[in-house]
Amino acid sequence: MLLSKALLAASRRPALRRLVTGTPATRRVVDRFVAGEDLADALTAVRALAADGIRATLDHLGEDITTRTEAEHSRDAYLAALDGLAGLGLGDGAEVSVKLSAFGQALPDGHELALDLVRPVAAAASAIGTTVTLDMEDHRTIDSTLAALDELRKEHPGTGAVLQAMLLRTEDDAKALAVTGSRVRLVKGAYDEPPAVAHRKKKDVDAAYARCLEILMAGPGYPMVGSHDPAMVALAHELAAQHSRTADSWELQMLYGIRPDEQRRLAAAGTRVRAYVPYGGDWYAYFMRRLAERPANVGFFLRSLATR
Ligand code: FDA
Repeated sequence: MLLSKALLAASRRPALRRLVTGTPATRRVVDRFVAGEDLADALTAVRALAADGIRATLDHLGEDITTRTEAEHSRDAYLAALDGLAGLGLGDGAEVSVKLSAFGQALPDGHELALDLVRPVAAAASAIGTTVTLDMEDHRTIDSTLAALDELRKEHPGTGAVLQAMLLRTEDDAKALAVTGSRVRLVKGAYDEPPAVAHRKKKDVDAAYARCLEILMAGPGYPMVGSHDPAMVALAHELAAQHSRTADSWELQMLYGIRPDEQRRLAAAGTRVRAYVPYGGDWYAYFMRRLAERPANVGFFLRSLATR
């Protein structure tokens, strides 16, 4: 818990970012979780996943940007990604995930700016028969992100969002989003949140995840079960059977490079599986959150530094 808190704090420290990203051995470890620096690398990863029957959602890395120009770059990177995905012809087998903080959400008038910049991305996704999912960041951004979701869904009803089971508000949000046509990715939550707004114990987060999953699976929407946890994967299958869901009415999602054998096994057994595929040069915060989630990843990282 302490280690995880320290790593999450480190994910927002520029000096540590320089130290970690400047270490050559880091690259080998990062490669396990990140598909590459360029769009071409990401498209290669999407093709390889598709060959194994696994869908993809592309994430152009970058968050917490500080200028409007950087926000415009995020929009352009996603438009290029969708152009690249159009060439693969996978339809909704490959979509994109965006963090509104990369579109300027935290800048002055950031809500409007992020919405203006993400609209063309949603339109480009619709034009090639696929979707955008809005990632969820720390709890202070949720109202803005859900309001953006409402706006985008008016024109692009397939736009999805993420709910974080660790937050106390999430059961209510899950009820509100368990509606026809709605796509919701349920995750446990990757940010260090205060006790006033979040469950802090793993067993409470797991119990909340199970309750939210039941709400989404019972409803008429399209649940996206974002977890590597064998208990949650098993529960998702149980609930899908209990609510007579067909295999194409929900999906499992896991991160690129995490339990890849299990991703392939589940896909081969008939479950819809989608991998979340991050790419780009700005991988530091994403990478630190992955370390914070799992002490074994930290060991792997330290061993790799020692053997460089
Ligand atoms: P958890 O970390 O609770 O681990 C439970 C068990 O799962 C472990 O005991 C182990 O058995 C297995 N496991 C977990 N990690 C493993 C690994 N690396 N290797 C092997 N086994 C492992 N968060 C957020 O706040 N906003 C977001 O938008 C997103 N988006 C997102 C998309 C997708 C597709 C996923 C899968 C996750 C996210 N997340 C996220 C991250 C999420 O909130 C959470 O931090 C991680 O998924 C870790 O939680 P788990 O449910 O996977 O299991």
